[in-house]
Amino acid sequence: MTQAPHGTENSPAEDSSERVVLGIESSCDETAASVVVGGRIVLSNIISSQHDLHAEYRGVVPEIASRAHAERITPVVREALTQAGVTLAQIDAVAVSVRPGLIGSLLVGVSAAKALAWSLHRPLVGVDHVQAHLVAGLLARLAAGGVAKDVPSLTDEHAMFPALGLVVSGGHSSIFLMRSPLSITTLGGTRDDAIGEAYDKAAAILGLPYPGGPIVDRLARNGRPDTVKFPISRLEPGSLDFSFSGLKTAMLYHVHGVPTTRGRGGTAAIELNERSIADACASFQAAAVSAVMLKLDRALEVCHNARTLFVGGGVSANSLLRSRLQSLAAERGLRLVLPSMEFCLDNGAMIAALGHRMLAARGWASDPLTISASPMSGIAHEVAGSGTLQASRRP
Ligand code: KG4
Ligand code: ZN
Repeated sequence: MTQAPHGTENSPAEDSSERVVLGIESSCDETAASVVVGGRIVLSNIISSQHDLHAEYRGVVPEIASRAHAERITPVVREALTQAGVTLAQIDAVAVSVRPGLIGSLLVGVSAAKALAWSLHRPLVGVDHVQAHLVAGLLARLAAGGVAKDVPSLTDEHAMFPALGLVVSGGHSSIFLMRSPLSITTLGGTRDDAIGEAYDKAAAILGLPYPGGPIVDRLARNGRPDTVKFPISRLEPGSLDFSFSGLKTAMLYHVHGVPTTRGRGGTAAIELNERSIADACASFQAAAVSAVMLKLDRALEVCHNARTLFVGGGVSANSLLRSRLQSLAAERGLRLVLPSMEFCLDNGAMIAALGHRMLAARGWASDPLTISASPMSGIAHEVAGSGTLQASRRP
Protein backbone atom coordinates (compact mmCIF):
# COMPACT_ATOMS: atom_id res chain seq x y z
CA MET A 1 0.00 0.00 0.00
CA THR A 2 0.63 3.64 0.22
CA GLN A 3 2.51 5.18 -2.61
CA ALA A 4 0.07 8.05 -2.77
CA PRO A 5 -3.25 8.89 -1.15
CA HIS A 6 -6.17 7.28 -2.93
CA GLY A 7 -8.90 9.83 -2.19
CA THR A 8 -9.91 12.04 -5.07
CA GLU A 9 -10.42 15.79 -4.99
CA ASN A 10 -13.83 15.56 -3.39
CA SER A 11 -14.38 12.06 -2.06
CA PRO A 12 -12.53 10.56 0.91
CA ALA A 13 -10.67 7.27 0.49
CA GLU A 14 -13.13 4.40 0.97
CA ASP A 15 -10.75 2.17 2.86
CA SER A 16 -9.85 3.43 6.33
CA SER A 17 -6.30 2.15 5.89
CA GLU A 18 -5.83 4.50 2.94
CA ARG A 19 -7.22 7.60 4.59
CA VAL A 20 -4.98 10.62 4.85
CA VAL A 21 -4.97 12.63 8.07
CA LEU A 22 -3.33 15.99 8.60
CA GLY A 23 -2.07 16.23 12.20
CA ILE A 24 -1.47 19.62 13.83
CA GLU A 25 0.45 20.16 17.06
CA SER A 26 1.00 23.44 18.94
CA SER A 27 0.62 22.58 22.63
CA CYS A 28 3.99 23.90 23.82
CA ASP A 29 7.02 25.21 21.91
CA GLU A 30 6.91 23.23 18.68
CA THR A 31 4.67 24.21 15.77
CA ALA A 32 4.22 20.99 13.87
CA ALA A 33 2.18 19.46 11.06
CA SER A 34 2.30 16.07 9.43
CA VAL A 35 0.51 14.03 6.78
CA VAL A 36 -0.06 10.39 7.77
CA VAL A 37 -1.71 7.62 5.74
CA GLY A 38 -3.64 4.81 7.43
CA GLY A 39 -2.66 6.07 10.90
CA ARG A 40 0.87 4.70 10.50
CA ILE A 41 2.75 5.74 7.38
CA VAL A 42 4.27 9.21 7.65
CA LEU A 43 4.51 11.14 4.39
CA SER A 44 5.79 14.34 6.02
CA ASN A 45 6.70 15.54 9.50
CA ILE A 46 7.43 19.27 9.75
CA ILE A 47 8.50 20.59 13.14
CA SER A 48 9.31 24.25 13.70
CA SER A 49 10.98 24.41 17.10
CA GLN A 50 11.01 27.62 19.10
CA HIS A 51 14.00 26.63 21.26
CA ASP A 52 16.02 29.63 20.07
CA LEU A 53 13.24 32.03 21.16
CA HIS A 54 13.06 30.61 24.71
CA ALA A 55 16.73 29.76 25.29
CA GLU A 56 17.62 33.01 27.05
CA TYR A 57 14.78 32.42 29.57
CA ARG A 58 15.81 28.73 30.08
CA GLY A 59 12.18 27.67 29.77
CA VAL A 60 9.10 28.28 27.62
CA VAL A 61 7.53 31.76 27.86
CA PRO A 62 3.81 31.24 27.06
CA GLU A 63 3.19 34.61 25.35
CA ILE A 64 6.24 34.25 23.12
CA ALA A 65 5.19 30.69 22.28
CA SER A 66 1.65 31.57 21.17
CA ARG A 67 2.82 34.50 19.05
CA ALA A 68 5.38 32.26 17.31
CA HIS A 69 2.75 29.56 16.69
CA ALA A 70 0.46 32.15 15.08
CA GLU A 71 3.28 33.26 12.75
CA ARG A 72 4.40 29.74 11.84
CA ILE A 73 1.26 27.60 11.65
CA THR A 74 0.34 28.41 8.02
CA PRO A 75 3.83 27.91 6.53
CA VAL A 76 4.29 24.72 8.59
CA VAL A 77 1.01 23.20 7.32
CA ARG A 78 1.82 24.25 3.77
CA GLU A 79 5.27 22.64 3.99
CA ALA A 80 3.79 19.42 5.41
CA LEU A 81 1.45 19.17 2.40
CA THR A 82 4.22 19.99 -0.08
CA GLN A 83 6.65 17.44 1.33
CA ALA A 84 3.92 14.79 1.41
CA GLY A 85 2.98 15.59 -2.18
CA VAL A 86 -0.71 15.96 -1.38
CA THR A 87 -3.16 18.75 -1.95
CA LEU A 88 -5.52 20.07 0.69
CA ALA A 89 -8.39 18.39 -1.13
CA GLN A 90 -6.73 14.99 -0.66
CA ILE A 91 -6.81 15.34 3.13
CA ASP A 92 -9.54 13.06 4.55
CA ALA A 93 -9.54 14.47 8.10
CA VAL A 94 -7.83 16.99 10.36
CA ALA A 95 -6.53 16.00 13.80
CA VAL A 96 -5.29 18.50 16.35
CA SER A 97 -3.92 18.51 19.93
CA VAL A 98 -6.59 19.98 22.18
CA ARG A 99 -5.06 19.19 25.59
CA PRO A 100 -3.04 19.39 27.78
CA GLY A 101 -0.69 22.30 27.16
CA LEU A 102 -0.32 26.06 27.16
CA ILE A 103 -3.79 27.35 26.42
CA GLY A 104 -2.71 30.24 24.17
CA SER A 105 -0.51 27.89 22.15
CA LEU A 106 -3.16 25.16 21.86
CA LEU A 107 -5.71 27.67 20.62
CA VAL A 108 -3.56 28.58 17.60
CA GLY A 109 -3.47 24.97 16.37
CA VAL A 110 -7.12 24.34 17.22
CA SER A 111 -8.26 27.46 15.34
CA ALA A 112 -6.20 26.49 12.28
CA ALA A 113 -7.54 22.92 12.35
CA LYS A 114 -11.14 24.09 12.66
CA ALA A 115 -10.74 26.51 9.74
CA LEU A 116 -9.24 23.76 7.55
CA ALA A 117 -11.81 21.11 8.48
CA TRP A 118 -14.70 23.53 7.94
CA SER A 119 -13.48 24.84 4.61
CA LEU A 120 -12.63 21.34 3.29
CA HIS A 121 -15.84 19.71 4.62
CA ARG A 122 -13.72 17.09 6.34
CA PRO A 123 -14.05 15.64 9.85
CA LEU A 124 -12.16 17.26 12.71
CA VAL A 125 -10.85 15.33 15.69
CA GLY A 126 -9.39 16.80 18.87
CA VAL A 127 -6.80 14.55 20.55
CA ASP A 128 -4.98 14.37 23.85
CA HIS A 129 -1.31 15.21 23.37
CA VAL A 130 -0.03 12.82 26.06
CA GLN A 131 -2.09 9.92 24.74
CA ALA A 132 -0.73 10.69 21.27
CA HIS A 133 2.88 10.31 22.52
CA LEU A 134 1.99 6.66 23.29
CA VAL A 135 1.23 5.83 19.66
CA ALA A 136 4.33 7.58 18.24
CA GLY A 137 6.12 4.20 18.18
CA LEU A 138 3.49 2.87 15.77
CA LEU A 139 4.59 5.33 13.08
CA ALA A 140 6.96 4.57 10.24
CA ARG A 141 8.37 6.42 7.27
CA LEU A 142 7.80 5.18 3.77
CA ALA A 143 11.28 4.40 2.43
CA ALA A 144 12.43 3.21 -0.96
CA GLY A 145 11.21 -0.36 -1.26
CA GLY A 146 8.59 -0.22 1.50
CA VAL A 147 7.90 0.79 5.06
CA ALA A 148 11.09 1.66 6.97
CA LYS A 149 10.08 0.03 10.25
CA ASP A 150 8.11 -3.02 11.23
CA VAL A 151 4.79 -1.61 12.44
CA PRO A 152 1.64 -3.72 12.77
CA SER A 153 -1.40 -2.97 10.64
CA LEU A 154 -4.26 -1.32 12.48
CA THR A 155 -6.20 -4.58 12.49
CA ASP A 156 -3.29 -6.47 14.07
CA GLU A 157 -2.80 -3.97 16.85
CA HIS A 158 -5.24 -5.59 19.23
CA ALA A 159 -2.74 -8.43 19.86
CA MET A 160 -0.45 -5.92 21.61
CA PHE A 161 -2.85 -5.31 24.51
CA PRO A 162 -3.17 -5.10 27.48
CA ALA A 163 -0.09 -2.93 27.63
CA LEU A 164 1.76 -0.50 29.81
CA GLY A 165 2.44 3.02 28.57
CA LEU A 166 5.20 5.37 29.70
CA VAL A 167 5.28 9.05 28.74
CA VAL A 168 8.44 10.92 29.73
CA SER A 169 8.66 14.48 28.46
CA GLY A 170 9.24 18.09 29.45
CA GLY A 171 5.75 18.33 30.94
CA HIS A 172 4.88 14.74 31.88
CA SER A 173 6.19 11.62 33.59
CA SER A 174 3.34 9.14 33.68
CA ILE A 175 2.59 5.44 33.55
CA PHE A 176 -0.60 4.20 31.94
CA LEU A 177 -2.57 1.02 31.64
CA MET A 178 -3.57 0.65 27.99
CA ARG A 179 -6.41 -1.64 26.94
CA SER A 180 -6.09 -0.23 23.42
CA PRO A 181 -4.61 2.97 21.96
CA LEU A 182 -7.98 4.58 22.69
CA SER A 183 -8.67 3.17 26.13
CA ILE A 184 -6.07 4.23 28.64
CA THR A 185 -6.03 5.09 32.32
CA THR A 186 -3.33 6.68 34.46
CA LEU A 187 -1.55 4.46 36.99
CA GLY A 188 0.91 7.10 38.18
CA GLY A 189 2.12 10.60 37.38
CA THR A 190 4.60 13.12 38.66
CA ARG A 191 3.95 14.82 41.96
CA ASP A 192 6.19 17.77 41.15
CA ASP A 193 8.60 18.24 38.23
CA ALA A 194 8.44 16.16 35.07
CA ILE A 195 11.61 14.27 34.19
CA GLY A 196 12.39 16.47 31.16
CA GLU A 197 11.92 19.58 33.29
CA ALA A 198 14.43 18.15 35.80
CA TYR A 199 16.88 17.54 32.92
CA ASP A 200 16.40 21.11 31.70
CA LYS A 201 16.90 22.60 35.20
CA ALA A 202 19.91 20.38 35.96
CA ALA A 203 21.47 21.54 32.69
CA ALA A 204 20.83 25.18 33.61
CA ILE A 205 22.54 24.64 36.99
CA LEU A 206 25.55 23.23 35.14
CA GLY A 207 25.57 26.25 32.82
CA LEU A 208 24.43 24.19 29.82
CA PRO A 209 21.96 25.47 27.18
CA TYR A 210 18.21 24.84 26.94
CA PRO A 211 16.75 22.29 26.29
CA GLY A 212 19.06 20.42 28.61
CA GLY A 213 18.05 16.81 27.97
CA PRO A 214 19.95 16.17 24.73
CA ILE A 215 23.18 17.80 25.95
CA VAL A 216 23.13 16.14 29.41
CA ASP A 217 22.59 12.83 27.59
CA ARG A 218 25.55 13.51 25.29
CA LEU A 219 27.95 14.70 28.03
CA ALA A 220 26.93 11.82 30.32
CA ARG A 221 28.61 9.39 27.89
CA ASN A 222 32.03 10.78 28.93
CA GLY A 223 31.25 10.89 32.66
CA ARG A 224 31.37 8.43 35.55
CA PRO A 225 27.85 7.63 36.79
CA ASP A 226 28.98 6.72 40.31
CA THR A 227 30.82 9.93 41.22
CA VAL A 228 27.84 11.77 42.71
CA LYS A 229 25.27 9.98 44.89
CA PHE A 230 22.06 11.52 43.58
CA PRO A 231 18.76 10.39 45.16
CA ILE A 232 16.45 7.93 43.39
CA SER A 233 12.92 8.78 44.44
CA ARG A 234 10.88 5.77 45.53
CA LEU A 235 7.90 7.34 47.34
CA GLU A 236 5.60 4.98 49.28
CA PRO A 237 5.90 1.21 48.68
CA GLY A 238 3.87 0.36 45.60
CA SER A 239 3.47 3.97 44.45
CA LEU A 240 3.69 4.42 40.69
CA ASP A 241 4.05 8.19 41.01
CA PHE A 242 7.24 10.06 40.22
CA SER A 243 9.04 12.87 42.00
CA PHE A 244 12.00 14.62 40.39
CA SER A 245 12.27 17.84 42.40
CA GLY A 246 14.60 16.23 44.99
CA LEU A 247 16.97 15.18 42.22
CA LYS A 248 16.96 18.71 40.81
CA THR A 249 17.71 20.19 44.26
CA ALA A 250 20.46 17.63 44.80
CA MET A 251 22.12 18.87 41.59
CA LEU A 252 21.80 22.47 42.85
CA TYR A 253 23.47 21.59 46.16
CA HIS A 254 26.12 19.48 44.45
CA VAL A 255 27.14 22.39 42.23
CA HIS A 256 26.65 25.41 44.53
CA GLY A 257 27.20 23.69 47.88
CA VAL A 258 24.66 22.81 50.58
CA PRO A 259 23.45 26.03 52.24
CA THR A 260 24.82 26.58 55.74
CA THR A 261 22.36 26.08 58.58
CA ARG A 262 22.88 27.18 62.19
CA GLY A 263 25.52 25.06 63.90
CA ARG A 264 26.33 23.09 60.72
CA GLY A 265 28.75 23.82 57.99
CA GLY A 266 27.57 23.54 54.42
CA THR A 267 29.55 21.94 51.64
CA ALA A 268 31.53 24.06 49.24
CA ALA A 269 30.61 24.73 45.64
CA ILE A 270 32.43 22.57 43.10
CA GLU A 271 34.55 23.86 40.29
CA LEU A 272 32.73 23.40 37.01
CA ASN A 273 35.02 22.00 34.36
CA GLU A 274 34.72 19.46 31.58
CA ARG A 275 35.34 16.48 33.87
CA SER A 276 33.11 17.58 36.77
CA ILE A 277 30.27 18.50 34.37
CA ALA A 278 30.49 15.14 32.60
CA ASP A 279 30.50 13.28 35.94
CA ALA A 280 27.52 15.30 37.22
CA CYS A 281 25.62 14.61 33.96
CA ALA A 282 26.37 10.87 34.11
CA SER A 283 25.37 10.62 37.79
CA PHE A 284 22.20 12.66 37.25
CA GLN A 285 21.22 10.56 34.24
CA ALA A 286 21.84 7.31 36.13
CA ALA A 287 19.55 8.46 38.98
CA ALA A 288 16.81 9.86 36.70
CA VAL A 289 16.67 6.74 34.52
CA SER A 290 16.84 4.41 37.54
CA ALA A 291 13.81 6.20 39.02
CA VAL A 292 11.86 5.47 35.83
CA MET A 293 12.97 1.83 35.71
CA LEU A 294 12.04 1.35 39.37
CA LYS A 295 8.47 2.51 38.73
CA LEU A 296 8.21 0.36 35.61
CA ASP A 297 9.24 -2.68 37.67
CA ARG A 298 6.49 -1.85 40.14
CA ALA A 299 3.97 -1.31 37.34
CA LEU A 300 4.81 -4.73 35.89
CA GLU A 301 4.06 -6.24 39.30
CA VAL A 302 0.55 -4.76 39.07
CA CYS A 303 0.07 -5.47 35.35
CA HIS A 304 2.00 -8.70 35.06
CA ASN A 305 0.10 -9.78 31.97
CA ALA A 306 1.01 -6.66 29.99
CA ARG A 307 2.15 -7.81 26.56
CA THR A 308 3.71 -4.58 25.36
CA LEU A 309 5.41 -1.48 26.69
CA PHE A 310 4.63 1.69 24.73
CA VAL A 311 7.01 4.58 25.39
CA GLY A 312 6.89 8.17 24.16
CA GLY A 313 7.79 11.80 24.89
CA GLY A 314 10.96 13.83 24.43
CA VAL A 315 12.93 11.92 27.08
CA SER A 316 12.29 8.65 25.23
CA ALA A 317 15.11 9.90 22.96
CA ASN A 318 17.50 9.38 25.90
CA SER A 319 20.24 6.85 25.09
CA LEU A 320 20.51 5.30 28.57
CA LEU A 321 16.72 5.03 28.97
CA ARG A 322 16.39 3.38 25.55
CA SER A 323 19.02 0.76 26.35
CA ARG A 324 17.61 0.05 29.82
CA LEU A 325 14.11 -0.31 28.30
CA GLN A 326 15.45 -2.73 25.70
CA SER A 327 17.03 -4.87 28.45
CA LEU A 328 13.84 -4.79 30.52
CA ALA A 329 11.72 -5.84 27.55
CA ALA A 330 14.10 -8.69 26.71
CA GLU A 331 14.15 -9.92 30.35
CA ARG A 332 10.36 -9.78 30.74
CA GLY A 333 9.41 -11.01 27.29
CA LEU A 334 7.65 -7.74 26.56
CA ARG A 335 7.26 -6.20 23.15
CA LEU A 336 8.80 -2.71 23.30
CA VAL A 337 7.31 0.02 21.13
CA LEU A 338 9.77 2.93 21.05
CA PRO A 339 9.37 5.85 18.66
CA SER A 340 12.00 6.54 16.01
CA MET A 341 14.02 9.57 17.10
CA GLU A 342 12.05 11.99 14.88
CA PHE A 343 8.78 11.03 16.64
CA CYS A 344 10.04 11.30 20.26
CA LEU A 345 9.71 15.07 20.49
CA ASP A 346 6.43 16.86 19.95
CA ASN A 347 5.22 16.29 16.39
CA GLY A 348 2.08 16.33 14.25
CA ALA A 349 2.46 12.71 13.09
CA MET A 350 1.52 11.24 16.47
CA ILE A 351 -1.51 13.57 16.56
CA ALA A 352 -2.61 12.27 13.14
CA ALA A 353 -1.97 8.67 14.27
CA LEU A 354 -4.20 8.92 17.33
CA GLY A 355 -6.77 11.04 15.48
CA HIS A 356 -7.00 8.37 12.75
CA ARG A 357 -7.74 5.63 15.31
CA MET A 358 -10.34 7.78 17.07
CA LEU A 359 -12.12 8.63 13.81
CA ALA A 360 -11.99 5.05 12.52
CA ALA A 361 -13.59 3.85 15.77
CA ARG A 362 -16.54 6.19 15.32
CA GLY A 363 -17.16 5.90 11.59
CA TRP A 364 -15.25 9.08 10.75
CA ALA A 365 -17.80 11.32 12.45
CA SER A 366 -16.49 14.80 13.12
CA ASP A 367 -16.10 16.50 16.47
CA PRO A 368 -18.26 19.64 16.58
CA LEU A 369 -16.49 22.78 15.42
CA THR A 370 -17.16 24.11 18.92
CA ILE A 371 -14.59 21.79 20.56
CA SER A 372 -12.35 23.72 22.87
CA ALA A 373 -8.76 23.46 24.04
CA SER A 374 -7.86 22.76 27.66
CA PRO A 375 -4.64 23.11 29.66
CA MET A 376 -5.54 19.99 31.68
CA SER A 377 -5.14 16.31 30.88
CA GLY A 378 -8.35 14.46 30.09
CA ILE A 379 -7.01 10.97 30.91
CA ALA A 380 -8.80 9.33 33.83
CA HIS A 381 -7.00 7.67 36.74
CA GLU A 382 -7.33 3.92 37.15
CA VAL A 383 -9.82 3.15 39.87
CA ALA A 384 -8.53 0.42 42.17
CA GLY A 385 -10.86 -2.55 42.24
CA SER A 386 -12.95 -1.25 39.35
CA GLY A 387 -13.08 -4.79 38.01
CA THR A 388 -12.27 -3.60 34.52
CA LEU A 389 -8.55 -4.27 34.68
CA GLN A 390 -7.32 -6.65 32.02
CA ALA A 391 -4.17 -6.80 34.03
CA SER A 392 -4.40 -7.79 37.63
CA ARG A 393 -2.25 -7.71 40.74
CA ARG A 394 -0.03 -10.73 41.28
CA PRO A 395 -1.38 -12.86 44.13
O1 KG4 B 1 7.84 15.68 24.37
P1 KG4 B 1 8.57 16.97 24.37
O2 KG4 B 1 9.04 17.50 23.03
O3 KG4 B 1 7.71 18.10 24.99
C1 KG4 B 1 6.76 17.95 25.97
O4 KG4 B 1 5.64 17.45 25.66
O5 KG4 B 1 7.11 18.28 27.11
O6 KG4 B 1 9.80 16.81 25.38
C2 KG4 B 1 10.77 17.82 25.56
C3 KG4 B 1 11.69 17.38 26.68
C4 KG4 B 1 12.68 18.47 27.14
O7 KG4 B 1 12.61 18.58 28.54
C5 KG4 B 1 14.03 17.90 26.69
O8 KG4 B 1 15.10 18.32 27.52
C6 KG4 B 1 13.79 16.42 26.79
O9 KG4 B 1 12.48 16.25 26.28
N1 KG4 B 1 14.74 15.63 26.00
C7 KG4 B 1 15.62 14.73 26.54
C8 KG4 B 1 16.37 14.20 25.47
N2 KG4 B 1 15.92 14.78 24.31
C9 KG4 B 1 14.92 15.65 24.66
N3 KG4 B 1 15.82 14.37 27.81
C10 KG4 B 1 16.79 13.45 28.06
N4 KG4 B 1 17.55 12.91 27.10
C11 KG4 B 1 17.39 13.24 25.79
N5 KG4 B 1 18.15 12.69 24.84
ZN1 ZN C 1 4.95 16.30 24.37
